[in-house]
Amino acid sequence: MKNHSHQALGALSISPASGALGAVVEGLDISKLNSAQVAAIRPLLDEYSVLVFPDQELTPEEQIAFTAHFGPVEQHPLYRSAILDGYPEILVLEHKNHEWVNGRNDVWHSDVTFSEEPPLGSVLYCRAITEGLGDTLFCSMRRAYDALSPGMQQMLRQLSAEHSSARMVVRNNSESYNVPIDEVPPPVNHPVVRTNRATGKQNLFVNPIYTIRFAGMTEKESDPLLNYLYEQATRPDNIYRHRWKVNDVVMFDNRCAMHYVVLDYGPEMHRLMHRTTAAGERPV
Ligand code: SIN
Repeated sequence: MKNHSHQALGALSISPASGALGAVVEGLDISKLNSAQVAAIRPLLDEYSVLVFPDQELTPEEQIAFTAHFGPVEQHPLYRSAILDGYPEILVLEHKNHEWVNGRNDVWHSDVTFSEEPPLGSVLYCRAITEGLGDTLFCSMRRAYDALSPGMQQMLRQLSAEHSSARMVVRNNSESYNVPIDEVPPPVNHPVVRTNRATGKQNLFVNPIYTIRFAGMTEKESDPLLNYLYEQATRPDNIYRHRWKVNDVVMFDNRCAMHYVVLDYGPEMHRLMHRTTAAGERPV
């Protein structure tokens, strides 16, 4: 992580958002990026894991086009119904009138790790919020890995873990939730320590909602170590807390950051995010 001085790359200004991860990128209209700006932003995602672009005015087409700079834009494999009218690529994450569309997200997770090729990252575009409520927390799985002892790192590098959507489906279908999901795809195995193909940097790749157990072990055997890793990953000094404003765009690297929505708002609050997702590769 670079120091906290304000950097400028032409008109682009980048300020680290916390000591752990995240940067605020200003001076940029992300609906009109030229190729030099795209080339400047991509490595920032590798470096900071979470990029905040305040005060953006995006049409659905422009949100999709921005996301496509990072990879092919893909639909959520299970949530097929709550999408923006006419835009299957845009997932609607909404809380309104006591009800969540597409489930609650007050659980630490990385998106869709139950698939063979989990997304590279997601773009959240804030359309409605009461400022100061319903913040999103992000934690660095790279820093969490770096802080472990060499012995623990070496042991974890030998392991893979089973990921499945089963817990998420049970959780969301039992809440006030209007789009039930019945489908649970077969579990997949991913390495517990993941390597970024471009930078060679390594990070933990497990999360409490989709990681069921270490491959070849029972859940009971796996839980103590998995819970220790989650405890380390979600320490206060390993977190960036994003306080939303309408028109914020936040892009996060799903390969090396987990996120969590703070459920501190009342039943009447309207919280609306439009999420797009850039496809990723099989973790190595
Ligand atoms: C998510 O878990 O992808 C949603 C994050 C948010 O609504 O802030």
